[in-house]
Amino acid sequence: MSSFNIWTNKKLQNPTAFLIKMKKTLITVLLFSILPLAAQNKKAIYKDKNAPIETRIENLISLMTLEEKIMQMNQWTYGKNANPNNIGEKMKEVSPTIGSLLYRSTNPEYRNQVQKKAMTESRLGIPIIFGFDAIHGYRTVFPIPLAQACSWNTDLVKESCSITAKESWLSGLDWTFSPMLDVARDARWGRVSEGYGEDTYANSAFAVAAVKGYQGKSLSDKYTIAACLKHYIGYSLSEGGRDYHYSDISNQTLWETFMPPFEAGIKAGAATVMSGFNDISGVPASANYYTLTEVLKKKWKHDGFVVSDWGSVIQLVDQGVAKDIKEATLKSFMAGVEMDMVDNAYVDFLPELVADGKVPMASIDEAVRRILRVKMKLGLFENPYVDVVPEEKRYLLPEYLKVAEELAAESMVLLKNEKQTLPITSKYKSLAIIGPMVKDSVHIMGFWEGMGRPQDVETIYEGLQKEFKKKVVLNYALGCDFDGDDKSGFADALTEANKSDAVVIFLGEKANWSGENGSRSTIALPKIQEDLVAELQKSGKPIILMLSSGRPLELIRLNEMADAIVEIWQPGTTAGSAVAGILSGRRNPSGKLSITFPQTTGQIPIYYNMRESSRPKSGHYQDIPRDALYWFGHGLSYTTYDYSPIKLSATKIRKNEKLVAEVEVTNSGNATGKETVLWFIKDPFATISRPMKELKSFEKKLIKAGEKIVYRFEIDPMKDLSYVDSFGERHLETGNFFVIVNDQKVQFELID
Ligand code: BGC
Repeated sequence: MSSFNIWTNKKLQNPTAFLIKMKKTLITVLLFSILPLAAQNKKAIYKDKNAPIETRIENLISLMTLEEKIMQMNQWTYGKNANPNNIGEKMKEVSPTIGSLLYRSTNPEYRNQVQKKAMTESRLGIPIIFGFDAIHGYRTVFPIPLAQACSWNTDLVKESCSITAKESWLSGLDWTFSPMLDVARDARWGRVSEGYGEDTYANSAFAVAAVKGYQGKSLSDKYTIAACLKHYIGYSLSEGGRDYHYSDISNQTLWETFMPPFEAGIKAGAATVMSGFNDISGVPASANYYTLTEVLKKKWKHDGFVVSDWGSVIQLVDQGVAKDIKEATLKSFMAGVEMDMVDNAYVDFLPELVADGKVPMASIDEAVRRILRVKMKLGLFENPYVDVVPEEKRYLLPEYLKVAEELAAESMVLLKNEKQTLPITSKYKSLAIIGPMVKDSVHIMGFWEGMGRPQDVETIYEGLQKEFKKKVVLNYALGCDFDGDDKSGFADALTEANKSDAVVIFLGEKANWSGENGSRSTIALPKIQEDLVAELQKSGKPIILMLSSGRPLELIRLNEMADAIVEIWQPGTTAGSAVAGILSGRRNPSGKLSITFPQTTGQIPIYYNMRESSRPKSGHYQDIPRDALYWFGHGLSYTTYDYSPIKLSATKIRKNEKLVAEVEVTNSGNATGKETVLWFIKDPFATISRPMKELKSFEKKLIKAGEKIVYRFEIDPMKDLSYVDSFGERHLETGNFFVIVNDQKVQFELID
C-alpha cells in the first residue's frame, strides 16, 4: 500500500512551486489534524449505539483528522494469498485506518484479526468494510445472472442472494459487488453473463430481488451484506461489444433503458453503487457529475456511497479527460465517487487537492459521512466481528444446494423440441453422452465463480449416472475439446452414437470466454464443436443439444442439425442434478429467454423492444431471415399451455384510474409445469417514439396438468403507460394502447 506520497509527486517539477505547495499541504494537514485532536475532549457519542446514526456520524467526523478521513475513502487489497503462514506478514501491511478491504480470503478468523487491528490500533476504532465479488454465489455457486433471469422467478433469485449473503458473511464479508444491472443487448460483450439480460423492466425486477436478498430486512442483522449496484452506468453499450470501450449513449437511451434498474435498486435500499469504466459520450462514468451527483444523490436521494470500479479513477488519464492522476482524482471525487477501489489515488492526491483549495473540506466530510453511514447501518461499530463456525456449517448446506438446483433447472431454456424428442422417457434404452461439457467441473460454474471449487460441483456426468441408473445405458465419449482442431475423438464418439438410441451432445463455452474482458467477435461456438455435431448426425439418431454458455450463441447451423436444444447456461454447483432432471422430465423446463438469440453475430444488435423502422418491411439483412432465431421470452415446456383471450376490465380509462387485464392459462398437457406470463404494452404513437412493445409485468405460477389459472396485470397509467424524456421527466399522453401477451394484442384507450 502506498501512503501519502505528496512528497514524491513527479508532476511538481518546479522547486519553488513545490516548496509553496509543500507548505500549504503541511499547513492544511496540520490544521485538520490538530483541530479534531483538540475536539477530543468531546464525548465520543459515535460509540453510543443508542444515539441516532446521523448524530454519531457527525460526532465522529468532528473528531477525525484529514488523513483519517481520506483513509476511509481508500479500498485496498492484498491479493489472494491468505495462507496461514503468511497472514502475520500480510496483516502487518494492512493499515488499521483503512476504509475498506477487497477481501479474498474465506477465513473469518483472519478477517476478525484484521478488523481487530482497526478497532484497537487506530485512534478512533473505525471498522473496516470487507468487500468481494460474490456475483452468483460464494461457495455454493448458482447459475450466472443471465440464466437466473430466464427463470423469471424473483423469489428464487432473492433466496439465492440471501444464501450468498450468509456464506459470505460467515467468511468475513460485509459487502458484495453485485448485482450488475447493465441492460445488455450485444452478446459479443462478455459481461452479458453477469446481468439480467436485454430488458429494462426485467433488470429492475431482479435488481430489487437481489438487493432484498443480500441486504435482508435490516443491514445490521447477522448474515446480511451490503449490495452494490454496478456498473453505473451504460457500460454494456461499449462499442462493438469490446469491453472497456467508449459508449455513445443518448440521454433518451440513458433515461429510458439504463437508469430504471438502478433507480429500482436504489429504491429497494441498495447501500452502495459502483461507477463504471466506460466513457459515456465523452464524460466517463467515474467522472460524471450528472449521473453520480445530479441523478443518484440529488434526484434519487441515495445516502450511501459510490465506489469506483477497479482502476476507473486512474483510467481517466487513459480515457483522455485528465492530464494526470491528480486531475483524475479531482474529477472523480468531485463528480461523486466517494471510495477509490485499489488505485490509491485518493490517498495520494486528495491532501494536496484540499491544500490547493480545489477540494472543499465540506466535500471530504460529505464523502466520509456516506461511507460511515453504510458502516453504521451494517452495525459494524457495535459488531465488528463475524461468527466463526466450522466450514461444514458454513457452506453448501443441503438447503442451499436445493435452491441452487431449483434455480439452475428453472433457468434452463428448452429452445427446440421437434417431435417431442425430450424428455428421455422409456422410449430410450441407451443414450450416447458426448462432448467437452460432460465431465467438466470448471467452466460449468461460469465467470465470477466466487469461492466455488470444482471439487464441489456435481458434473453432468455424475448427475446423469444418478438419474438414469439402471434405467438407461449411458455411452460416454469426449468427442472433442472446447476448441482447437483435434478430431481424433470423433470416431469414438460416432461409435457410441451408433450403439445408442439417441445422442445427447454437451457443448459450450469456457468460463473465461464470457465475463469481464471476455468479448468475442463471433458468438458462434468454435467450428470443431459444430463439426462434432455434423459427424454425429451420421448415426441417424435423434440429436439433442445441451448448450452451456455465458451469452446467447449463434445457432443458425446447429439449429438445423438438432432435434432438441436446451440452453443450460452455466448452472453452477448443482449442474449435474439440474441438467439430468430436465433431460429425464423430473423437472419440466420453464425458462424463457431473458435475451434474444440472433441468427448470426452480424444481426447484433437485435432485441425485442427495438424501435420500428421507417420501412418496417424492408431494410433487413438480405442473407438471413429478418427475425431473430429465438426471441426474448421464447421457451418451451414438456406440457402445453392454452391461453384464453385477454380480458380487460374496461376499454377506456382515465389517467387516474387502473385497468385490469387478465388471461386464463390452461395446462392442456400431461405434465405439471410452471408458466410465466409476460405482459407487454405497446404505445403506437407518442411525442417521442416508443419501442415496438415493452415488458411491464411478469408472473410465474405452477399449473398442474388439466388445471386453469388466472394471471392478472393491473395497469397503472403513470407507471405503465407513461414514458420518460431525455431529461428523465415522465409524460403520460392520452390515446390508444395495446396490451400484448404472446401473439394476442388488445386495444384500450387512455383519456384525460
Ligand atoms: C470489475 C467489477 C468488480 C471489480 C472488483 C472490476 O474489474 O469490473 O465488476 O466488482 O473488478 O473485483
